[in-house]
Amino acid sequence: MNTKMILDIDTGIDDAMAIAYAVSDPQIDLIGVIGSYGNIKAKLAARNSIQILDLLEENNVPVFIGTENPIDHTYKREPINSQIHGENGIGDVELPLPVREVREENAVDFILDSAKKYKDQLTIVATGPMTNLALAIKKDIKTMQEIGNITIMGGAITVPGNVTPVSEANINQDPKSADILFKSDLNITMVGLDVTLRTLLTKKETSQWRELGEAGTKFADIVDYYINCYDDIYPELGGCSLHDPLAVGVAVNPNFVSMIDLNVMVTTENDAFYGRTIGDKARLNDSTTNVKVAVNVDKDYYLETFMNNFNQLFQKVK
Ligand code: RIB
Ligand code: CA
Repeated sequence: MNTKMILDIDTGIDDAMAIAYAVSDPQIDLIGVIGSYGNIKAKLAARNSIQILDLLEENNVPVFIGTENPIDHTYKREPINSQIHGENGIGDVELPLPVREVREENAVDFILDSAKKYKDQLTIVATGPMTNLALAIKKDIKTMQEIGNITIMGGAITVPGNVTPVSEANINQDPKSADILFKSDLNITMVGLDVTLRTLLTKKETSQWRELGEAGTKFADIVDYYINCYDDIYPELGGCSLHDPLAVGVAVNPNFVSMIDLNVMVTTENDAFYGRTIGDKARLNDSTTNVKVAVNVDKDYYLETFMNNFNQLFQKVK
């Protein structure tokens, strides 16, 4: 049976690839997308999500607008570097104007209603801040506990952060929400910088999409913008990180990565370590753990699957 999936994302170039991965994978039934703040404002993330879905001929996937601010309204988060995703979040590439509206229902209620409906068949993949998830947990933890799995792109356990020396961007946007999520005892998979910085895409791959019609060409334009930024900011990597699409892949195929079991927390007290993901000392001796942390990746296997899925998708939609 297919996995029912909700994407909670700050669309964003790698988030756009996460949508395409979800649409392209035959094991996934994408039931909704929530636009989150982060790379851009939540409203724009929702609009970008509609444009990307429509480009991929997925006009029936509903899109919601999530919350616009961290759970702690006094928290002054680091500004996002708009250079990475462009002013419009999708590499300043123009896509046709959306011909449909975002849904009016509250995004947190959509999460809870879906959890009630699909229970353990539901997987939520969050590739932006974890605020909507934390709000859903605060509203109805029992319903949230019925969800099969929550996979996040976020955090860094074995490598430095990308916003501060210890903090990854999605966690840094709202450390308190991420801490609530990790300590909730829900079944969580953490796909952090530990593995996403090793999973790279280059123009060698995106040039193949240009042969496959309008959708492939637009995606190549969007992703090449991101690759150019990575070349400027992280020349040592030799490509752009597939942060968010890797999280979607791992959510349905854990064999892309190897994982350790750990009770994770986020440091929310000490300025120098604010937003760090680390093992929770208070739960070190617990007999159970609720987070699987990806620490190694079979990048060749993932990239081959990613390219097969994307090539087939772009060929299909033209
Ligand atoms: O740290 C990488 C993450 O931050 C990705 O999800 C990217 O899209 C940004 O949200
Ligand atoms: Ca993202």
